[in-house]
Amino acid sequence: MAVAPSLLSADFGAAAQDMASMEAAGADLFHLDVMDGHFVPNLTFGPFIAKALRRRTDLLLDAHLMVTRPDALVEPFARAGVDALTFHVESDADAAATLAAVRAAGMRPGLSLRPGTDLDALDPYLPDLDLVLVMSVEPGFGGQAFLEEAPRRIAELARRRRERGLGFAISVDGGINAATSALAREAGADILVAGSYLFGAADRAAAVASLRGR
Ligand code: DX5
Ligand code: ZN
Repeated sequence: MAVAPSLLSADFGAAAQDMASMEAAGADLFHLDVMDGHFVPNLTFGPFIAKALRRRTDLLLDAHLMVTRPDALVEPFARAGVDALTFHVESDADAAATLAAVRAAGMRPGLSLRPGTDLDALDPYLPDLDLVLVMSVEPGFGGQAFLEEAPRRIAELARRRRERGLGFAISVDGGINAATSALAREAGADILVAGSYLFGAADRAAAVASLRGR
């Protein structure tokens, strides 16, 4: 079970310290929430900031693009030194072409989907993916409550992965805390993304451990 702090809940004026503290607490990778103010109502940051964060950690950087045109950002994020690039199947990009571009640029390709989007939308692309990011909240903001249908979606995705003999990782994003992480783990998740729970914890090492179920 890998734990990915979402830097959306970090103090960006002191991002380097916040990242070091999460690394010391046992985090496995960092989740970067990129929002364009169009695909989702919120606006965060792009490759310029990702590049600055890259210089501050050796952990894997996984960018979650909540943007209308992720295809335009593949090269900039590759140059920023991001390791994995996940975008939404509901975006305006040609998913197959964009996944191929992500891999050609040397990054791991991932697809995500909104809670209301049928899992079938991912079916054609599953063999090309290193990661599927299951949203357990509506994308756009941190601090929302975990949607109770998420574990069923994770389990169904794990079933399709097994049935087709595929190897993508399943990541879960939104409303993850000690209680909901247990539901996600039992359903078959490999990576847990958590923002407000981890950055709001008094004891970050204990909070990271709690997501692993110990
Ligand atoms: C929501 C983002 C999440 C968010 C998770 O659009 O994709 O990564 O930061 O935050 P919490 O853990 O607070 O729900
Ligand atoms: Zn995210």
